[in-house]
Amino acid sequence: MAQFLEHAFDPEEFRREGHKLVDLLGDYLQRCRNAKPMQVLPPSEPDELVDFWTNDLKSKEFNLQDFYNTLIDQSNHIHHPRYMGHQVVPPAPVSALTEMLEALLNNGMAIYEMGPAATAIERVVIRWLARHVGLTENADGLLTSGGSAGNLTCLLAARQTMCGYNIWEEGTQADNSLAFLVSEEAHYSVSRAAHIMGWGDKGVVKVPVNSRMQLDTLKLKDTLEKARADGLNVIALVGNACSTSTGTYDPINEMADFAEANGLWFHVDGAHGGAAVMTEKYNHLTKGIERADSLVIDFHKMMLTPALTTAVLFKNGQHSFETFAQKAEYLLRNNTIKPWYDGAGRSLECTKKMLGVKVYTMIRLYGDQLFSDYITTTYDLGQTLAGMILGEKGFELAVKPDGNIVCFRYRPESYMGDINQLTTSIRKNLLDDASFYVVQTTVRNEVYLRVSLMNPFTTHDDLETLITLIKSITHKIHAMTQ
Ligand SMILES: Cc1ncc(COP(=O)(O)O)c(C=O)c1O
Repeated sequence: MAQFLEHAFDPEEFRREGHKLVDLLGDYLQRCRNAKPMQVLPPSEPDELVDFWTNDLKSKEFNLQDFYNTLIDQSNHIHHPRYMGHQVVPPAPVSALTEMLEALLNNGMAIYEMGPAATAIERVVIRWLARHVGLTENADGLLTSGGSAGNLTCLLAARQTMCGYNIWEEGTQADNSLAFLVSEEAHYSVSRAAHIMGWGDKGVVKVPVNSRMQLDTLKLKDTLEKARADGLNVIALVGNACSTSTGTYDPINEMADFAEANGLWFHVDGAHGGAAVMTEKYNHLTKGIERADSLVIDFHKMMLTPALTTAVLFKNGQHSFETFAQKAEYLLRNNTIKPWYDGAGRSLECTKKMLGVKVYTMIRLYGDQLFSDYITTTYDLGQTLAGMILGEKGFELAVKPDGNIVCFRYRPESYMGDINQLTTSIRKNLLDDASFYVVQTTVRNEVYLRVSLMNPFTTHDDLETLITLIKSITHKIHAMTQ
């Protein structure tokens, strides 16, 4: 046996390095839990980091643990309570252990034989989530790698089911311009799905939003009529639960009424906020979600799971077979229906990670309450921050938040300059300071700071410190521009 192969597969080295890695990660978690002052996103330039790793690759010396340490040092510290950036969850640590097991077993799941246990567990997890959403036994679905893939999976099924002919086999028709209705605030993956399907810009019919950036249901009828008069074959309505930018939920139940009354497929992008179905306190935000023909919920956003793990659910489980209407493989096997257990038949992916196993581990170890506690705690934090913002002179909210995404800005009374420039500059200074990680967004063409309170260990004190820091940064900027 070649010497390097012997080395690479040495079980003893694996055991030794594995123990050291778990200790390293345990210490790291402890530092984050204790909220040790840390550069949450260590400032860096992309090209400089490429130079760093290019030089590292050339150096003769290599120590695995040093490498892991450097990697941690250069990373964005999602587990730190002052991480408040994009919507990526600090995964429950046990799910990372499970992921190591998955990586080593590496059961690919394109077909049942390549991942029997993982395939069965995925089905159990899908049914578990479907029950929490309020779907019936008719529902079915799958796990896939990300909300973007999930939205595409659902919208392909909508297209095949609703377009009036077998578009999978016959292809697009010039005189049949397909389209869906969606709010201006939808995540770009929704519009991207339309473009991937070849519908172009006209395939995404934007419905105006109200003052809280929710789809305005009063505008639905006129928008649909106009689209139809323009010759579009509108087949679906897409709702946000919630929107990415401001985190507000579209009126899902009213939209379901409209879709039903107008013969439209109803898809809900619940990548971030669909998980609120798990809570007693916030599940009113998702009212009507069980009426959707299809929906996605990201486990890696509000369900404590490492990226990427997305649930795709169909109210009528048979629709999960419509996404990819390829038949040939199955006919060869004298099988006219696709078996549920050969995952690749229904998923964008062929080889797929063992996506359900991490979720199953958490359900078994901590129970359903874990998810409810996490979502309730972080959504409560969003309400707390909003209350603090309203109580601070010069601070304003973009919209009253529904959950854990809060958009706000600060304009000192004496500031007469451009508020968008000021906010952009505050965010840049926050990045340089690095004791917090927050992002920015544009609402009604105005720039706002945007925080997603993803860490359940963020405290009132952290939020107060953030507000104080923003004030002091602003006054410094203001003084410099006087
Ligand atoms: C509402 C919404 N939908 C879809 C996505 C895309 O999900 P993913 O990043 O898992 O592809 C996001 C990501 O932020 C999102 O917020």
